[in-house]
Order: sequence, then C-alpha cells, then structure tokens
Amino acid sequence: MATTHELSETHYFETNPPPSTLPEHTALANSFIKLHHSASRPVVLLTSGGTTVPLENQTVRFIDNFSAGTRGATSAEYFLSQGYAVVFLHRQFSLLPFSRHYSHSTNCFLDFLSEWGRIGEDDEGGKDGEQAATPDVVVKARYRQQMLSVLRKYRKAKEQNLLLLLPFTTVTSYLFTLKMLACQMQCLGNEALFYLAAAVSDFFVPPSRMAEHKIQSGDIPSTDGDGSTGGGKKLVVDLDPVPKFLKRLVEQWAPRAMIVSFKLETDPSMLLSKCRQSLDRYSHHLVIGNLLSTRKREVVFVDRKGLEWIRTPELRDGEEEVEIESLIVPAVIRKHQELLQRQRSGDTNR
Ligand code: PMT
Repeated sequence: MATTHELSETHYFETNPPPSTLPEHTALANSFIKLHHSASRPVVLLTSGGTTVPLENQTVRFIDNFSAGTRGATSAEYFLSQGYAVVFLHRQFSLLPFSRHYSHSTNCFLDFLSEWGRIGEDDEGGKDGEQAATPDVVVKARYRQQMLSVLRKYRKAKEQNLLLLLPFTTVTSYLFTLKMLACQMQCLGNEALFYLAAAVSDFFVPPSRMAEHKIQSGDIPSTDGDGSTGGGKKLVVDLDPVPKFLKRLVEQWAPRAMIVSFKLETDPSMLLSKCRQSLDRYSHHLVIGNLLSTRKREVVFVDRKGLEWIRTPELRDGEEEVEIESLIVPAVIRKHQELLQRQRSGDTNR
C-alpha cells in the first residue's frame, strides 16, 4: 500500500504542470547519457542554484533564495577534471562552470581585457610595447596564463561533449527534470552519481490557489485594527509544503546510484543532528553539511561510518585561496569508487 509520503509526491506530479522544456531536455539527456554509457564513463548529475516559487501563473513575483550556484558550478569543474561527464541541472542565469571565473559582478570580464597597443591604458596589452596598426582586444598579460588554463578545460568539455547544461527556474520544473534525469540515468547503474547541491524550496503555492495575473495591491482586502502601516493591507501568502523527494529518488528513481545530498543550516548547534536525521530518513549514501556563514571554508561529511570535517587550509601571506570544492569533489569520488569496488565484490550495503 502507498504511504502518505508517496501519495503526496504522486499528487504533486499529477496536479502541477510539467515544464514546457521537458521533452527537449529529455531528448538531450537521453543522447548525452547513451554517449557516456557506451564509453563506460561515470556520469554525475549535479544540481545547482536556488529554485523559485512563483506567486502568479503569469509570473511577475516569486519567492527566491540566496544561492548563486557557486558550489555547483565550481564542483562541476572538478568532476570534469576527474573524468566524469556532468549533467548540470542549474537555475537559469546562475553561475556556470568555467564562465563563473569571469561573470560575477566583482569579476567583470571586461576588466581582464585591454586594447592592444593603446598607449597609457595598459602597458601589457601589446607584444613588447609594439603598436597595433588597427586596435584589437587582448587579454591583459597578467591574466593570460589563468585564462588560457580555463579556456582549455572549457574547450575540452565542449569538444568532447562532457557537460550538459540544463536550466530550471521554479521548484516544479526542477522536480520534473530531476525525476526525468534519474529515470534516464538508471541504465548507468552504480556508475551514476547524484550530487544535490541546489537549494530546493520547501514550500510552494499549489496551482489551485495560484493567481493567474499579477497580484494587484488594490485587490488585497483590508485587515484593519492591527496597527500596521499600509492602511491595514497585507499580502498573506499561504504556502503548502513541497513533498520531500529524496526518498523517492533513493528508493525508486535511482535505486542503484550513489546519492549525495547537501544540508544547509544557519544554527551550528543543529547541523550535525540534521545531517544524521536526513541520512536516517532517506537512507542514501552521504550528507554534506554546511553552514551559510562558513560554507566556503568548511563542510562536514556524514555517512554511516561517522563524520569527517573538510576545511580549507589557513592562508599564509601571498598564498592563493583554496576552493573547498577542490577538496570535496575528490573525497566524494573516492567514496563513489569505494562503493563501486564493494558492489563489484558482492557487498550490497550502501
Ligand atoms: O550556491 P552557493 O552559494 O554556493 O551555496 C551552496 C549551498 C549552500 C546552497 C549548498 O552547499 C547546499 O547546502 N545545498 C542544499 C541546500 C538545501 O536545499 O538544503 P535543504 O535542507 O532544504 O535540503 C536538503 C536536501 O533535501 C537536499 O538534498 C534537497 O535536494 C532535498 N529536498 C529538499 C526539498 C524538497 N522538497 N525535497 C527534497 O528532497
């Protein structure tokens, strides 16, 4: 008999419309997964960025969250460097692997460029102070090495078709696409890895209560007498819980894959218990816990064996910051390889 949990998930998919992009994304995923399956290459489905919760069907306003997709975009690069093909299910317009180095507002790509030969602007622009006959755009000398390295990795990923970019915006489009991808990836068996770094909304407005058009402030009823500003008018948003999909993913959509989820908290005293609770509840392989304030410096791996903190090293003068994903991803891959080994030797435990 179906559990309450399963019923609410089924109801969710029956009552929310699939995204219009689903057929196109299914076709793209299908050929990408087949390609890498035939090459015996491991594939990671990496989710990244925050899901939105629209307040109107023709959406003007929506609820969002803080995630810019840094964890996801950075991790994708490290998975690619370790020989994985990456399905990158990301929030539209959030950070992408490789271009992330130049697309943030504090790292505008234009600051990396200069006009070749323009005197006084950038003495590094041309070749040995040479004047260009016609102005050209070049990368400033001090950035060339780093940009060349990013460019080469980017081109390799593109030329070898190692990176599939699939965007989502709403929590519903995320969930439909996640389900589709998980089912498509079943053919990969335990070579498939799920790395769920997206910040997924826990609440949403169900279609039955969603306004079709932009909510008009004039239509909001007055709730006089509570002393608030705005003439007693308040927009009260009534949200339903989004069913937890991790259980369905682990048990039905991707029963043989390795599944890694992230757990975000803001209160340090809750982090470990919440990670353990998630592991107990969903019985997947690994929870990576992080705090909003320290997520770029430390994370904790929680699995059935116990816990392990991963921290970036303290920097000495002149040392470059270490991206924590350069430590997280190899550690996850080690666990994936160990799992593959165990399963090859007939051990069916997670
Ligand atoms: O983008 P950055 O700025 O780099 O930030 C990275 C990050 C902090 C967003 C990332 O490291 C992270 O922690 N992501 C997970 C945040 C989150 O959504 O946690 P949660 O407690 O809401 O969900 C925990 C797990 O439950 C997730 O794996 C999620 O996929 C799953 N879930 C969530 C909601 C839902 N309805 N069903 C689910 O199954």
